Amino acid sequence: MKEFKLAVLGGGSSYAPELMDGIAKRYLGGEFHAREIVLVDVPEGRERMETVAAFTRRMFAKHGVPCEIRTTLDRREAFDGASFVISQIRVGGMLARQRDEHIPLKHGVIGQETTGAGGFANALRTIPVSLQFAREIEETCPDAWLLNFSNPAGLVTEALVRYARVKTFGLCNVPIGIKMGIAKALGVDPSRVSTDVSGLNHLSFVTGIWLDGRDITGEIFDSPLFDEYLRREKYGQEMGRFLRKLRVIPASYLYYYWCTERALKEQLAQLAEKGSRADEVMRIEKELFEIYANPESDVLPEVLKKRGGAYYSDVALSCISAIVNNKPAVEALNVVNRGAVPGISETSVVEVSCMVDGRGPHPLAQKPLPPEVLGLVQQVKAYENLTVEAAVTGDVEMAFFALLNHPLMPGADTVRLVLRDILEANRDHLPQFAGKPV
Ligand code: G6P
Repeated sequence: MKEFKLAVLGGGSSYAPELMDGIAKRYLGGEFHAREIVLVDVPEGRERMETVAAFTRRMFAKHGVPCEIRTTLDRREAFDGASFVISQIRVGGMLARQRDEHIPLKHGVIGQETTGAGGFANALRTIPVSLQFAREIEETCPDAWLLNFSNPAGLVTEALVRYARVKTFGLCNVPIGIKMGIAKALGVDPSRVSTDVSGLNHLSFVTGIWLDGRDITGEIFDSPLFDEYLRREKYGQEMGRFLRKLRVIPASYLYYYWCTERALKEQLAQLAEKGSRADEVMRIEKELFEIYANPESDVLPEVLKKRGGAYYSDVALSCISAIVNNKPAVEALNVVNRGAVPGISETSVVEVSCMVDGRGPHPLAQKPLPPEVLGLVQQVKAYENLTVEAAVTGDVEMAFFALLNHPLMPGADTVRLVLRDILEANRDHLPQFAGKPV
């Protein structure tokens, strides 16, 4: 069995135990052995990281998994000798996410962790830090793969491929979540299902569905299973009819673009009643860490299912397994397009089905997205490209135009107000914009 060292940036994340559980399963299944796992975090995350480490040691001991779990605040120590680095950082912590969600809502626009103005603020904070970490990886373990989960994952990966040399790709649990949902609806093992995924992170589309190598796309869209999917995803009848006609299953985030008024109303009602999603997640995390900290606990808690990242470890560990064993696997990843997604620049990062082997991910050529959605994807890509430049340069005008290009933003007046509030509220995390007026 292949052995390696793994470093996890943001090791104190409440999601980390899911990853650790997956690692244990892959070891027990004879796929690979992460003999040394180093969790690394910032000083504010130390306590949580130690809690995650202790909980993981108990989980591993229970199953007889012989991995050494270490913790450190020193990234270079963590990277030294690592073959893989998983990045799942949250710059500014959950309070910054809370602001990302609250500020746009104050101005009457969608407030969301990854999409719209909230995702934009998140990108401005996370991109420079991710690039700094990438440089440290290049110096310390230049052969390592950096698997980026840090949100907004597509934008951060775009910045990494543009401004770093590290071997990297971005991941998200949304495409695998859709695949799992299809397998469940069909009542078959997920290994028998394969999907064609094309688009951008949190704006990707399943355009093809395969069962045991047979194309069942048409059957799925014409069956009641699709109605069930639509009910679950909250699309109204009319939107559902569009999706059936276009024969695409979108990432759920399309809801913000196509049902903006409804989504905004729901967000505002939720904010008034119990706060935004960040407020809710903080409550869930409190519960989770109480369980992780209990010296008796050694199994993944049920309450973890209340978080949105289900299966995130599956996609990461499937890629790691494909790379270390040079055993091809197909996963939807964020990689440089190279022509796989028609209508998007060849050099831009897209979310697309990839074949992963010992040399990493290779994007698979996709059929064109229907014109009814391609325009939206192209515009969001334009916004993403401008945002990456703004995050790297600290150019306020560029940031303004980036946000103005986001389809969820109204005109320049609101954009300027939202931008001003974002830069002001995040000033401790945005040194690149320091002292520059909006
Ligand atoms: C989905 C998205 C992730 C996001 C998560 C939020 O899984 O793909 O990008 O981080 O949901 O879940 P949360 O529980 O933090 O709201």
